[in-house]
Amino acid sequence: MTTDLTRMRFHSRKWVKPEDLNANGTLFGGSLLRWIDEECTIAAILQLGNERVVTKYMSAIDFVASAWQGDLIELGIGLHGFGRTSITFRCEVRNMVTRDTIISIDTIVFVGLDDQGRPVTHGYTDYTADRDRIPQRRGPIPRAPMPAHLAARAAAQAPEVLTT
Ligand SMILES: CC(C)(COP(=O)(O)OP(=O)(O)OC[C@H]1O[C@@H](n2cnc3c(N)ncnc32)[C@H](O)[C@@H]1OP(=O)(O)O)[C@@H](O)C(=O)NCCC(=O)NCCS
Repeated sequence: MTTDLTRMRFHSRKWVKPEDLNANGTLFGGSLLRWIDEECTIAAILQLGNERVVTKYMSAIDFVASAWQGDLIELGIGLHGFGRTSITFRCEVRNMVTRDTIISIDTIVFVGLDDQGRPVTHGYTDYTADRDRIPQRRGPIPRAPMPAHLAARAAAQAPEVLTT
């Protein structure tokens, strides 16, 4: 099933708890960015049919309003479009209590990777609202080996093992 690509969809709500506050007693930006990243990552996995997606790019972050302990906020995602290996979203977060928009992020790019950690062509051009692209896992998610130059650097910097 295909449907409107660009419509903002509000699927998730969060309840602002004490551990989500900054020193000012308002919503901590890092918590909000984590929720946004997680929400978009799940959407990217479901659209690309690939568990191995990574966040590549986020455009300007501007917190224009906030939230307080006990507030309910809702996260909306809209699809900008599909690339060859990537998918791009936009995001809006609203405080359901004050009705203010807390943040709008115009561009968030995710890239699907193969089992070597390289960008992989996904082949999709349209949004699905069905569950037809949920990745089929046949074993543990394979982890890419550390690139050779980083492995060499790590080995060179490894502390000497002291023996008694
Ligand atoms: C994701 C990663 C493998 C991409 O590597 P790369 O060398 O940039 O790969 P490519 O140049 O082939 O680009 C891959 C896709 O990303 C897009 N892209 C790359 N840089 C971009 C940027 N600055 N802004 C937007 N899109 C970008 C490309 O347009 C391409 O999309 P397309 O195939 O749909 O056209 C690599 O950058 C990486 O591993 N980054 C770390 C990601 C990560 O760990 N994120 C978690 C937070 S630390």
